[in-house]
Amino acid sequence: MSLPPGVERVLFTEEQVSERIREVGAQISAKYSGRDLKLIGVLKGSVFFLTELARAVDIPVKVDFLAISSFTGLTAGGAPGMVRIAKDLDDPIQGEDIMLVEDIIDTGFTARYLLQTLAGREPRTLAVCTLLDRTVRRIVQVPVDFRCFEIPDRFVVGCGLDYKQSYRNLGYIAVMNPESGIGPAQPSLHPETRHG
Ligand code: IMP
Ligand code: MG
Repeated sequence: MSLPPGVERVLFTEEQVSERIREVGAQISAKYSGRDLKLIGVLKGSVFFLTELARAVDIPVKVDFLAISSFTGLTAGGAPGMVRIAKDLDDPIQGEDIMLVEDIIDTGFTARYLLQTLAGREPRTLAVCTLLDRTVRRIVQVPVDFRCFEIPDRFVVGCGLDYKQSYRNLGYIAVMNPESGIGPAQPSLHPETRHG
């Protein structure tokens, strides 16, 4: 298989990703049997995973989306791990079973902020499902209820994850090559401003 520029190697193939999402979808269906579930996606990264996950569960599902901007402190007014909601949910979540769906949980700042914000709206239950979990870089603890893959400390793209907004549409999950010569020498895990 020929890989696009800067992509070093495939970590999980499209088949492995789909198979794992089906497994996690079945776990979610079992846990929420007899209930309704609202999946909350974080634009833009988690949209690709959320749509596949939604089709892999066989309980009634609603979806809603929010968008965030995150900063690392290099940005004026930003503090490390600071996140703000750039687009809020369309509807209230009070009394509902809610699942925050993430593309990746890295330091944990984004998920922790979102969980605190959502918890304040008094859902009946609040869970987290992430496609990727990079626990080696965790700074703040986040309760992860469902995850598809644990990944090593390398920058990855595909299945919704971007490098400078590209490569979200790759069906597989791949590691970026820092020697590729495209963009900065080392794709930074701390770009100044990240949008989902
Ligand atoms: P956290 O707040 O550090 O957990 O950051 C999570 C967010 O950082 C994700 O939703 C992504 O937008 C971004 N991110 C972290 N690691 C990667 C990566 O390896 N590839 C692409 N985006 C990433
Ligand atoms: Mg994201």
